[in-house]
Amino acid sequence: MSLNLVQAAYIVAAVLFVLSLAGLSRHETARRGNVFGIIGMAIALTATIWLAAERAERPGLTLALIIAALAVGASIGLWRARVVQMTGMPQLIAMLHSFVGIAAVLIGYNAYLAPDPLTGVLTGSAETIHLVEVFLGIFIGAVTFTGSVVAALKLSARINSNPLMLPHRHLLNLMALLASAGLMVWFVMSHALLPLLLMTLIALAFGWHLVASIGGGDMPIVVSMLNSYSGWAAAAAGFLLGNDLLIITGALVGSAGAILSYLMCQGMNRSFISVIAGGFGTEGATFEADQDYGEHRESNAGEVAELLRRAKSVVITPGYGMAVARAQAPVADLTSRLRKQGIQVRFGIHPVAGRLPGHMNVLLAEARVPYDLVLGLEETNEQLPDADVVLVIGANDTVNPAAVDEPGSPIAGMPVLEVWKAREVVVLKRSMASGYAGVQNPLFFRDNTRMLFGDAKDVVEDVVRLL
Ligand code: TAP
Repeated sequence: MSLNLVQAAYIVAAVLFVLSLAGLSRHETARRGNVFGIIGMAIALTATIWLAAERAERPGLTLALIIAALAVGASIGLWRARVVQMTGMPQLIAMLHSFVGIAAVLIGYNAYLAPDPLTGVLTGSAETIHLVEVFLGIFIGAVTFTGSVVAALKLSARINSNPLMLPHRHLLNLMALLASAGLMVWFVMSHALLPLLLMTLIALAFGWHLVASIGGGDMPIVVSMLNSYSGWAAAAAGFLLGNDLLIITGALVGSAGAILSYLMCQGMNRSFISVIAGGFGTEGATFEADQDYGEHRESNAGEVAELLRRAKSVVITPGYGMAVARAQAPVADLTSRLRKQGIQVRFGIHPVAGRLPGHMNVLLAEARVPYDLVLGLEETNEQLPDADVVLVIGANDTVNPAAVDEPGSPIAGMPVLEVWKAREVVVLKRSMASGYAGVQNPLFFRDNTRMLFGDAKDVVEDVVRLL
């Protein structure tokens, strides 16, 4: 395959990636977007592997080795994709980001220790640019790697989701950046391995600290931010490998992730700079973890069925617990029964409910809940004061009034579904435990709230039976 043919294949793949992103931006076209992405990646891989084999000293052996590595990687990937639960997706995605990070680090060291003979000996400014590329590629890759590992550990609850509050943490971050800048100057001037190794250690610690110091409530922004970093790490690797398609793809992922992070910050009323700087400016938050809000009131399936039967309008606000219990099908069943009885039912979806952007929308679509019943945060909040009953199904942080009433709370300022404004609220969960952000929820103790304890699927099925 000639170089021109490879370049043509790269252009086709790049166009398909753009079409894929455009398709993925709306759920009606998401499936088509995925297909474009798959075809684009198949073309990109075929062209790149062919080129690598053609340039190698022993093309047959190189091709066999790449195909063997691909087969192992693809088998593991297919197996993970098939067995992963929907609730395990965020940590899987975070781990995949960490692979992009470590790949960028290895490519950077490879470009430094074993330069591509085809590019010839670089001199002058071309050499300086190459060394800066190596340095930045390794830096971004190392930050992405450890940051993503911490995110995966936090999302899978293997480590606590509370923010790590080291003394002088912002000063530490600043010093890490300044030290890395100094090491880059040393590296470019001396071409020595030592500054590269020192920077790698600093960047690994910096990435770890940056994500560890962000609280559970802000993790959705961190996940999309790491998605963006992994894109920039891939783009840096593209420069080192001289691969235009990798530069384009990395830049597309990097900017898509950055836009998503920015939109999420806006939606959650967070400062973009504060979050990317590891929670900069959040140290003023003081709250009492075990505040006494009084007594809660317990209910049962029979009472809730009766409450629903008498209601004219019902709003359902699902959260992570609905995903854990896989309660979406009984919830859809409950919805259709209530509607058949002439009761108006709507769903209020918080943008960060669950553990993935759009998590609840995907589950409800899977259970065939009509799209027009599903409302966003602002629209739901407008309608909540007129609702007779709100059913909170496995949601917690996204319906926590502390975000509005308690300025010292770690989730203060985050827009929430103001369910307490409805006439009656039924909270369906297994215990009084807090949500992902680890903050107690005063909603559970309000006069118009009843707690209905149990696994969401079992309890909703009970209510449906009794209706
Ligand atoms: P959470 O605040 O995580 O609370 C979920 C609740 O579901 C828990 O309090 C739990 O209480 C209950 N639950 C768990 N299993 C259950 C089951 N089988 N049956 C019934 N209830 C069950 O949920 P949320 O309101 O959806 O908020 C999402 C949180 O995750 C936010 O803090 C958000 O920032 C964070 N986050 C979101 C994302 C994205 S992109 N969506 C990504 C990372 C983090 P019990 O244990 O008492 O049952």
